[in-house]
Amino acid sequence: MRIYLDHNATTPVAPAVLDVMARVLRDVHGNPSSVHYYGQAAKAVIDTARQQVAALLGGVAAEIVFTSGGTEADNLILRGAALAAQGQRRRLVASSIEHEAVLSTLKALERQGWPTTLVPVTRGGLVDPSALESVMGEDVALVSIMHANNEVGTVQPIAELAAIAHTHGALFHTDAVQSAGKLPLDTGRLGVDALSISAHKFYGPKGAGALWIRRGTRLVPTLTGGRQERNRRAGTENVPAIAGLGAAAADAAAHLDEDTARVSALRDRLEAGLLDRVAATVVNGAPDWRVANTSNMSFDGVEAESLLIALDLEGIAVSTGSACSSGTLEPSHVLRAMGLGTHRTQNSLRFSLGRGTTGADVDRVLDVLPSLVARLRQLARPARAAREA
Ligand SMILES: Cc1ncc(COP(=O)(O)O)c(C=O)c1O
Repeated sequence: MRIYLDHNATTPVAPAVLDVMARVLRDVHGNPSSVHYYGQAAKAVIDTARQQVAALLGGVAAEIVFTSGGTEADNLILRGAALAAQGQRRRLVASSIEHEAVLSTLKALERQGWPTTLVPVTRGGLVDPSALESVMGEDVALVSIMHANNEVGTVQPIAELAAIAHTHGALFHTDAVQSAGKLPLDTGRLGVDALSISAHKFYGPKGAGALWIRRGTRLVPTLTGGRQERNRRAGTENVPAIAGLGAAAADAAAHLDEDTARVSALRDRLEAGLLDRVAATVVNGAPDWRVANTSNMSFDGVEAESLLIALDLEGIAVSTGSACSSGTLEPSHVLRAMGLGTHRTQNSLRFSLGRGTTGADVDRVLDVLPSLVARLRQLARPARAAREA
């Protein structure tokens, strides 16, 4: 029996999504820009998806720009808003726990003359609104703060943060890649100007995403070419993937409450069970401000990579840090930004549950993990003693 507890890295494609994609791949081969019957059939497919995504986000269809995923959506808003910014507004502000899609893009923009300020987070992984207020000024073009964090699951007070950005005349973007399908998303209520999502995080296909951008917001396109997506993203649309994104959005909207209630009960049982059975274990990230499916825990004295491999050998898939940086032993920038020490950072494992997770999966982890931790702690003891001697 294999158990997948890495839904923040990616999710399996939902059956309803697969059906839609297979039908589109088989039956709809036109180019949506063509005026003939075939083109219009393809255009109808992406129009439907646009409505479905807009409905999930509480936006208007014309405000959706389809992209190749979350990374491209983040790049489009950061680079596009920077290039569109006028006058003295050249500074970009983000939190220190953003995904690399944001942080690396900001580093690149910094080299090109757009300075960046990173706002620190609390030990619980939250952006304190007063910390944002203290770095704001009339030179800020855009603030980008993620809705839910991919590693610890913390959810930021986006409406409050967006209001602060607006007071200073800056735009506000949120990377909602980890909250789409997990939290209700209402762009109006959040008060943001732009928001990124990625289909493969909510049971859609990889390589499909969207940037919602409020009508009237200035943006210089980063991909140039044809006039697709109202001149905001050139290139023939990936019609089957966009259809899959739309179907996943509709599915997520329909199942949100039920998924959240079920998954949070399982996550809480897993967490409480591990805290109970494994001594010297702590939860990372403010427990009351997290998405329902995520638990990040540190097991003192255990190298997380070793525990991950041991669990994998038992058929249980989890992750350390973010999927993009696993495979390297770089400590997580998120946990470091939260002020957690080297040990707690290196001992941390992320469990991210999803639609397919069952009570039996949780029971199996509770059965298997404590003895693996005990074994690894025993193995690590002589090495640790030698290091500390
Ligand atoms: C918060 C966040 N933003 C952006 C991305 C990138 O999305 P994609 O994989 O669609 O490029 C991810 C993926 O891990 C993510 O978790």
